[in-house]
Amino acid sequence: MELPISFNEEQLWSRTLMLYDSALREINTKLEILNNEFKQAHQYNPIEHITSRIKSPQSIAKKMRHHQREMTVENVVKYINDIAGIRIICSFTSDIYRIAELITKQSDITVLRVKDYIVKPKPNGYTSYHMVVSVPIFLSEEVIDTKVEIQIRTIAMDFWASLEHKIYYKFEGNAPDHITRELKECADLVSFLDRKMLALNEEVQSYKEPEENYSRYIANLLKARMKEAYGTVLEEDNLIDSEGRVSEVPESREPVRAGENGMDALVLTKDGGLFTDNSLEEEAIQGLMRMTGDSVTGEMLSEIAKQIIKESDRVPFDENGMKYAF
Ligand code: GTP
Ligand code: MG
Repeated sequence: MELPISFNEEQLWSRTLMLYDSALREINTKLEILNNEFKQAHQYNPIEHITSRIKSPQSIAKKMRHHQREMTVENVVKYINDIAGIRIICSFTSDIYRIAELITKQSDITVLRVKDYIVKPKPNGYTSYHMVVSVPIFLSEEVIDTKVEIQIRTIAMDFWASLEHKIYYKFEGNAPDHITRELKECADLVSFLDRKMLALNEEVQSYKEPEENYSRYIANLLKARMKEAYGTVLEEDNLIDSEGRVSEVPESREPVRAGENGMDALVLTKDGGLFTDNSLEEEAIQGLMRMTGDSVTGEMLSEIAKQIIKESDRVPFDENGMKYAF
């Protein structure tokens, strides 16, 4: 071991390592809090797992030799960014950017450096998102900003990186050509897999709440049709105050009201009919008529029905052969 020996230096070393250890704890706690908050709001963990480590004295010494710097505490703190290192493993690439953003937004964290090897992979195929941040450590007499290297990657990227690391060390950086080539092929597969898994996950997520999306979709469709036909939809153009008074209507246009209830119970049948269902939402049809007068024509409704059929194949018909648009 090549750590310095004088008493003061030794004290300084243990104090420095204690700081890095504290910084790891700070960041770990922050990540845990963010993950829990996210889990509560979205019923899903953006973080698969986290590992952290303090760089061994041997590796520190090796890196200092490599950088041709004298092995002093001051130099180590200055030139080595990854004495405290955290690796965050996510399921999906989108989680990586979400987490990076959440870390960046924390007011006591300073982002010192970012390397996005996902957008720009290394020639060997390595992908990951790297950040060097500093976090303040509050001691009894002072506050010391301490650096932590954060690596964020998917499970697949992590799988690749650990094999690559093993191979790199085995061959001391000079692996046979075909191994280097096949490793690169694996990296391409990893990137393909991550993209596929992300797309699949997004599709599954959108399946979870089809009714909500569907209702918004139909409401927008109806509003757009009415606007097209009549020029002005009062709610859209903020022309109605909270008491329902119409404030100002452009003279050239005949205003209509899309209403709220009117949207609430549109039903699409398998044969393409679109109607409002009194038994589901008693007020709906009356509401729609009251609010729009005759402004929703049969023609508009059937056009909307056609669009819905064309574009909403993900929304299942129920056992009565209907899709509900509320
Ligand atoms: P150091 O590599 O720490 O000297 O600094 P740097 O400026 O090159 O930082 P970079 O962000 O490129 O890499 C930091 C860390 O990412 C490394 O210490 C590794 O843990 C990891 N890393 C970078 N490149 C590779 C790679 O090609 N393969 C693997 N397995 N890990 C890598
Ligand atoms: Mg490097």
